[in-house]
Amino acid sequence: MSTSFDPNDVLARLSEATDFVRGRSSLAPRLAVVAGSGLGALGDLVEDSVRIPYAEIPHMPAPKVEGHSGELVLGYLEGLPIAVLSGRVHAYEGHPLQDVVFGVRLAARLGAKRFLLTNAAGGIHRWLEPGSLCRIVDHINLTGVNALVGPNIDALGPRFPDMTFGYGAELGELVQSAAAEAGVSMFCGVYAGVSGPSYETPAEIRMLRMLGAAVVGMSTVHECIALNHMGCQVAGVSVVTNFAAGVLSEPLDHAHVKQVAAKAGPNLLAVVRGLAGKLAAGDGAAAGAKG
Ligand code: HPA
Repeated sequence: MSTSFDPNDVLARLSEATDFVRGRSSLAPRLAVVAGSGLGALGDLVEDSVRIPYAEIPHMPAPKVEGHSGELVLGYLEGLPIAVLSGRVHAYEGHPLQDVVFGVRLAARLGAKRFLLTNAAGGIHRWLEPGSLCRIVDHINLTGVNALVGPNIDALGPRFPDMTFGYGAELGELVQSAAAEAGVSMFCGVYAGVSGPSYETPAEIRMLRMLGAAVVGMSTVHECIALNHMGCQVAGVSVVTNFAAGVLSEPLDHAHVKQVAAKAGPNLLAVVRGLAGKLAAGDGAAAGAKG
């Protein structure tokens, strides 16, 4: 892990990217959504959209995994100004953590204070069947690294950010009620963040189950930490794409993971639409503050 970076460089890169995006759209998002593996259709929901390929945004790292189109979509959903980061970069691709969190920091710099982080994940319990949605109530960062290691970027946040409300109840409850109103069942549980790219072993999954995790995946934890550092409110939803290793005695297959993510997409889209509607209506007026 490279932890040698100059905070002024990170801030300069963020400012350049922010200015570039501002040149294309003056929209100040009230919600930003990170669309994970196979969930890129989230960007297609956005109305009056300005779509900016990541490759055009200065310093924005481009995803290398298939199933991520890699574009920032700015526009409106249910009347709410929204940003969708369609595609993310992962540490397992070899990206430095400063790059892994660049997109969410950029969205925060554009004005978003509330984030919905979505991902594809393995279900650790038998009842978390492929296609289920699971709201993330907390995470266990087992990646062994943290995007805030290195000099603190004081302009972004404090040295020791609190993570007690890492996934704040207020925004989380809005997500949960949006799901209920859309008739979409949604479990909730703890997300175990691992480095990948190999899937876990059955013994590792047994350990994660004992630790209290419900779902496991290779993203999200670094974004959540970087956003809490910046004082943003975070909610998370995993699309369970497979039983985690050893839950069944079958091997895991990435192609299948992507197919299931795409199939569960409409349910997730309904939840995001409902959440946007609630925020637009002011249901979450108090949810701008952390907690
Ligand atoms: N493990 C880790 N990451 C994942 C999985 C899994 O089983 N499924 C989708 N992403």
